[in-house]
Amino acid sequence: MLTHVVRPEEILNSPAVSAGLLRVESRIRRLSTSSRLPLINSAAGRITGAGGKRLRPALTLATALALDGSLSNRVVTAAACVELIHAGSLVHDDLMDKAAERRGVRTLNAELGEGRALVVGDFILARAGLAALSSASKPVAETLASVVVELAEGQFQEAAELFDPERTPEDALRSITGKTASLFRASCLVAHRNGSSMAVYGERFGILFQILDDLLDLASTADRLGKPVGNDLRQGVYTFPLLLALRHDCADLRPFLGRRLSEDEITLLLARLRRSSMVDDTLEYCRGLAAGALSSLPAIADPQIAAALYGLPGAYIDWAESLLVR
Ligand code: IPE
Ligand code: IPE
Ligand code: MG
Ligand code: MG
Repeated sequence: MLTHVVRPEEILNSPAVSAGLLRVESRIRRLSTSSRLPLINSAAGRITGAGGKRLRPALTLATALALDGSLSNRVVTAAACVELIHAGSLVHDDLMDKAAERRGVRTLNAELGEGRALVVGDFILARAGLAALSSASKPVAETLASVVVELAEGQFQEAAELFDPERTPEDALRSITGKTASLFRASCLVAHRNGSSMAVYGERFGILFQILDDLLDLASTADRLGKPVGNDLRQGVYTFPLLLALRHDCADLRPFLGRRLSEDEITLLLARLRRSSMVDDTLEYCRGLAAGALSSLPAIADPQIAAALYGLPGAYIDWAESLLVR
C-alpha cells in the first residue's frame, strides 16, 4: 500500500542532513534573489522557493558527513549551488517541453513568456557558478561548470532524437547520463576533496532516478503521480523503458514510432506496455544499477549516514513500484 512506503528523499534526511539543509535553504534564497533587477529576483525566487525534494543538496551533505563527519560553510554553499544548477536546468527544461506547471506552480515560461524564462534560467545557472567560485572553491566551480556542459549535451541529444524511430536504449542511456546523472555525480564530487570515491554511486543512482521517472510516465496514473501520464510519448521522447520493451516483447509496436500520436493511440499503447515485460525488465535493470551503486560506496563511519546512503537506491525503487499499475 502507498501509505507504507517511505518517501525516499526522507531517507537521506537524518538530523545532521536536515540541519544542514536549513542552512542550504537560506543560501538558495539569498542567491536566487541577488540580482539588481527585482523582476529577476521574483522569477528566480519563484522556482527555487516553490519546493522540490532537495535531493541533490541532501546528497552533497550526506557525502560530506560520510567522508568528513561535519559540514563546513563551503560545503553548504556547494550544496546550494548544486540545487541552483538543478533549478536553472528545470527552467530551461520546462521551456523546451512547453510545460505549464512545475513544483505545483505555473512555470516561468507560462507565466512570463519564453524569452524571459530563458534568461532567468541563464541567471540562475550563472549565479550558481559565481557563488561556487567565490564561496566554495575553484575545483567545485569547475565541477559545476562541466556539469552544465554535460546537461546541455544530454538535453540536446534528447531534443535531436525526438520522434526518432531508430533511437536505441543505449542512446537513451547516453542522454540520461548527461541530463540527469551528471548532476547527481557532481553532488557527491563537490562535497569533499575525496568526493570522487562516491562519484560512481551518484552517477548510478542518477541514472536509476531518471529511468524510474521515465517508467512512471508510462506505467503509473495521473491520480497517483499528480501529473498527466504519457507525456513522453506525446512529446516524442522515446525513453529507456519503452525502447527496452520494443527490443523485447513489444517489437510489433514500432509502427507507433516516428509520428505524433492521438490520445486514443496513447491510451492503447500505455495499456499494451503495462501488460508487457516492460515494468519487470526496467525494475530489474534498476536493481542492477542500485547494486552497482552500493558496491561502489566507500567505508562510512557514521552508521546513520551509512544506512541512509545504502538505503536510498532501494527505497527509490520501492517507492516507484508502489506507484505503478500493471
Ligand atoms: C526532476 O527532478 C527532473 C528529473 C531529473 C526527473 P526532481 O524530481 O528531483 O525535482 P524536484 O527538485 O523534486 O522538483
Ligand atoms: C529532466 O528531464 C530534466 C533535466 C534533467 C534537466 P524530464 O523532462 O524527464 O523531467 P520532468 O519530467 O520534466 O521533470
Ligand atoms: Mg521535462
Ligand atoms: Mg525534458
